[in-house]
Amino acid sequence: MVREIKKDVYGIIINDWDRRLFDELIPLPDGTTYNAYLIKDRKNVLIDTSDPRKTDKFISILKKISEGRIDYVVSNHSEQDHAGGIPAVLNAFPEAKVITGEKGAILLNKLLLIPDESIIKVKNEEEINIGSRTLKFFYTPWVHWPETIITYSGQDRVLFTCDLFGSHLSTSSFYSTDNRKVYDAAKRYYAEIMMPFRSHIKKHLDLLAGLEFDIVAPSHGPIHNSPDFIINAYKDWVSDSVKNEVVIPYVSMHGSVEKMVDYFIDELTKRDITVKPFNLTVTDIGELAGALVDAATVVLGTPAVLGGPHPSAVYATYLFKVLRPKTRNISVIGSFGWGSNMLKVITEMLPKDIEIIEPVIVNGYPQKDDFIALTKLADDIVNKHKELQ
Ligand code: FEO
Repeated sequence: MVREIKKDVYGIIINDWDRRLFDELIPLPDGTTYNAYLIKDRKNVLIDTSDPRKTDKFISILKKISEGRIDYVVSNHSEQDHAGGIPAVLNAFPEAKVITGEKGAILLNKLLLIPDESIIKVKNEEEINIGSRTLKFFYTPWVHWPETIITYSGQDRVLFTCDLFGSHLSTSSFYSTDNRKVYDAAKRYYAEIMMPFRSHIKKHLDLLAGLEFDIVAPSHGPIHNSPDFIINAYKDWVSDSVKNEVVIPYVSMHGSVEKMVDYFIDELTKRDITVKPFNLTVTDIGELAGALVDAATVVLGTPAVLGGPHPSAVYATYLFKVLRPKTRNISVIGSFGWGSNMLKVITEMLPKDIEIIEPVIVNGYPQKDDFIALTKLADDIVNKHKELQ
């Protein structure tokens, strides 16, 4: 899909409707898109490219709308889904130079074998005049990777943000008109890609607050032509406040843990806590990640396997650790047959600054005293959440 989003500024959205996995890790229930932008001026500037799997289609569109001339290719981010088309662009437009930051230049060289002589390195806040407009480049590290930059066209009032403010959402809508759908996809995307770098994203939002723009043009998902929607959502997600929610990733082998989880959900809901359970045997980890964005507490449910936690629970704990949500409290509920060190394994994997609420680990099928302990755990969580108000 191609549209002129401002005079002589074209959005090129390549839909990848059928892609179901990103980085061989992240589920894509709604596919994704790779967005690039072309500014036609005295110099024609392409901002980002496309995933290599869509290169042929991308180059054919680009040849048509550029009328055969690309002077600069801005690489906001060196990951292959945006930079992977650069070699093909340089092949099709041999006069083009790649503009990127210091770290981007190193990564483009290492990952895509783009030679130094094809790269123009810009410094933070450096400007390049391309005719009737001047593009400004801001270093915004850890918008996924450490080399990321954002490109700003003040004359057009457009911010080209690459991964930031994106969503893995393949849709026929060029702009983010279905706010609920885009919100859900963008939140999930934030959780998977941006949440580990929350403190950096916070600083970047402060930087962007000083710029005037009416379009946010990311490189995944629909373009934001009412950008307050996505900026405000991000402000909420990166804020330090947490919600009165408990996320329960769990796995049950023979029913003991499931019985505990069922009882525990009832106890929490009776106390007006929003509960989000995820059976790890069927869970889409993107949904689990999205739920972690603002929950105050996580309670992991696991049986013992070979003396330790169930491997699915280990995976969930590892994801929790690397995604670095702002969760304040964590607890574990579980069941073992003849012995286990599952608590030790789990607690050793957790971030050091998280508060662990007294776990409930039972021997075999849960009995009366075990349910009393689960009730107490629900009360403990209520009290912890009150302290956070
Ligand atoms: Fe969409 Fe980090 O690449």
